[in-house]
Amino acid sequence: MNEAIRPGQGTSSQAAATPEVSVVVPTFNERDNVSALFRKLEAALAGIAWEVIYVDDNSPDGTWDVVRALARQDSRVRCIRRIGRRGLSGACIEGILASSAPCAAVIDADLQHDETQLPKMLGLLQSGDADLVVGSRYIEGGSADSFDRQRAGFSLLATRVAKRVLRVDVADPMSGFFAIRRDRFEQLAPQLSTQGFKILLDIVATARGTLRIREIPYTFGSRLHGESKLDSMVALDFLGLVLAKLTGDVVTLRFLLFAMVGSLGLVVHLTALAVALDLFHWSFPEAQAFGALVAMTSNFLLNNFLTYRDQRLKGFGILRGLLLFYLVCSVGLFANVGVAFSVYDQEPIWWLAGAAGALMGVVWNYAMSGLFVWRKR
Ligand code: GDD
Ligand code: MN
Repeated sequence: MNEAIRPGQGTSSQAAATPEVSVVVPTFNERDNVSALFRKLEAALAGIAWEVIYVDDNSPDGTWDVVRALARQDSRVRCIRRIGRRGLSGACIEGILASSAPCAAVIDADLQHDETQLPKMLGLLQSGDADLVVGSRYIEGGSADSFDRQRAGFSLLATRVAKRVLRVDVADPMSGFFAIRRDRFEQLAPQLSTQGFKILLDIVATARGTLRIREIPYTFGSRLHGESKLDSMVALDFLGLVLAKLTGDVVTLRFLLFAMVGSLGLVVHLTALAVALDLFHWSFPEAQAFGALVAMTSNFLLNNFLTYRDQRLKGFGILRGLLLFYLVCSVGLFANVGVAFSVYDQEPIWWLAGAAGALMGVVWNYAMSGLFVWRKR
């Protein structure tokens, strides 16, 4: 091996040694917490070669800037600043994939997790006793006292559903605090969802029992500064993950929402058509065009608000997106009618042909909208 790149050779300070563990910290608006966490990690991981990778989604409060300043003082600190993307799971995945250490741990920035457990978690991975170690609130010795009743109720319900439906055999699959062997994570990474919050549940469900899992108790504390980023949408995210895993990733929540919005669009269309005919006394072609325009517009707005809330278009982007959406839907209509005709040609059953056309239309609109209207950067 080349002398110059032999790991750990000729380095006097621990900061330059190859890390045994990368601690991945997803952040969004956590500028007041990142330095405090770093100092706590420094104390907890004394004697271990470690690094910390903050993954920040371009926080408006400039968290990434604070992390960069930390990184200039200490080479154990790294910063990934993601632009045009949001999501806890995706941030954790990118952080772990940016690591070359044999082990990675994920911990929240707000000091709600107990970083003093990290050496124990790392020890279990290094001894070969486990591939994944979960910091658990729901086993003997752990607790989540800082949760309000509503949050505690939802957390327990989700845990029960996950265990029953996805056969996940972990006491606290919703935990955001865990450590994993990076080689095992790398194998699973291509199948993980970058959306939502439930990365641990996703890892365990995707691994289908092939990971050796250990749980250790910890107490979920109170947030140091700032506020939680998890809102009522976590319920939707959770359902989406369950759905995707149950159908082998064929049906996604996004597609289901898109199709639901589309069905609602039919109702909107018919209502607008009736109004134009009866109230405005327009001719049928005019009224039909009006109905289509109203339905496409309301579909676009609903999709922007719900289906693609994580990639919501704003400002001028809304207008551009709306025009593109009109275009996509117009072509979708041709696809719809074309398929319906050819099915009817083979098998003259009106509802079968109609349904086949509608399905073609929604699949087309969904695929093209994802490509052109709410395109990922
Ligand atoms: N990069 C990035 N992008 N980070 C994010 C995002 C995001 O979109 N959303 C949240 N974070 C970061 C926060 O800055 C914080 O460091 C961490 O992820 C957890 O977010 P919180 O907003 O503090 O979540 P919580 O405390 O309400 O929920 C915690 O407990 C849940 C268990 O019930 C988290 O650990 C969840 O993962 C966990 O499921
Ligand atoms: Mn938190």
